[in-house]
Amino acid sequence: MEKWPGVIRAFKEFMPVSEESEVVTLEEGNTPLIHVPELAGELGLKLELYLKFDGANPTGSFKDRGMTLAVTKAREEGSQAIICASTGNTSAAAAAYGARAGLKSIVLVPAGNIALGKLAQALIHGAEVIPIEGNFDRALELVREICSRYPVTLVNSLNPYRIEGQKSAAFEICHQLGRPPEILAIPVGNAGNITAYWQGFQEYKTAGRIDSLPEMWGFEAAGAAAITRDRVIAEPETVASAIRIGNPVSWEKAVEAARQSAGLIEEVSDSEILEAYRELASLTGIFAEPASAASLAGVKKMTREKSLPEDSRVVCVLTGHGLKDPNTAFQEILQPEPVEASLERVVERAGI
Ligand code: F0G
Repeated sequence: MEKWPGVIRAFKEFMPVSEESEVVTLEEGNTPLIHVPELAGELGLKLELYLKFDGANPTGSFKDRGMTLAVTKAREEGSQAIICASTGNTSAAAAAYGARAGLKSIVLVPAGNIALGKLAQALIHGAEVIPIEGNFDRALELVREICSRYPVTLVNSLNPYRIEGQKSAAFEICHQLGRPPEILAIPVGNAGNITAYWQGFQEYKTAGRIDSLPEMWGFEAAGAAAITRDRVIAEPETVASAIRIGNPVSWEKAVEAARQSAGLIEEVSDSEILEAYRELASLTGIFAEPASAASLAGVKKMTREKSLPEDSRVVCVLTGHGLKDPNTAFQEILQPEPVEASLERVVERAGI
């Protein structure tokens, strides 16, 4: 088997790079597409269910797919520093790829509202971490303003190279399934990823690699459901901190992806997200972060409301690893009390 070269080289005909480009990569991509008939059965879903586990990327989220290209280009263009606003994962990826490229990274995060693992990543990779007394939407406004005045490169998904890199996940799914799925279910925050997937599927169709397109099903958290409710949410709230965004940058593009694909943008409640989060972990062995579980929660919700052909292939995108956010896991599942270190007590507790 050939060594996986990372998403830029793996899909170079579809990437805006030349042979001379010095690629900054952590060999991201090529993540598992896991068939989970037992989960579908347990949930009473009569469809072919798959999980695209992008938590298996080097920094534990799909952001690596776009960051490899954004940072490659930043370095190629002679930039000395990259900057982003983030609910956590983008900051972790920017910090890691910045370290790999030898660039300074600056990350603005909402103080007190990013998961512990993500903060640890940004710090250990040596980013300048600036927690702000405001939410993600405010952090992004500040970052845009800074980029208009100072010589730093923006690596949020407003940077088109982020989207170009992230579309690689759509390509991988087509190869892994042997064809596109009928439905692609995905969490929506700032709406960059749904935009990227839709672009990827369309490019593969135009290139003659596939001959159909999936319906794009995007799911927002109910407390941050700007697109679903068609209004900016000034103070978004959700347990899924990664998608706690009230004014998504790629709003129109997400609406277009749903419209053009005959798909939908819907919302799921925090309790639906947390239920799907626990089911994924306990029924499939996959630990995804709460925001990721919005895709499965959404499929469960929508299949109650509309019926699909039984053999429909549905791919739920799991965008980030559960280890990013240990606190939510502990809030959901109580930590066990210690027992006396004796055979009797341990066997009693084990229930064997
Ligand atoms: N899932 C996870 C785990 C995320 O971190 C994000 C976004 C999304 C889903 C939503 O993707 O924004 O492209 O619609 N996280 C960004 C960040 C905002 O800063 O890490 P989107």
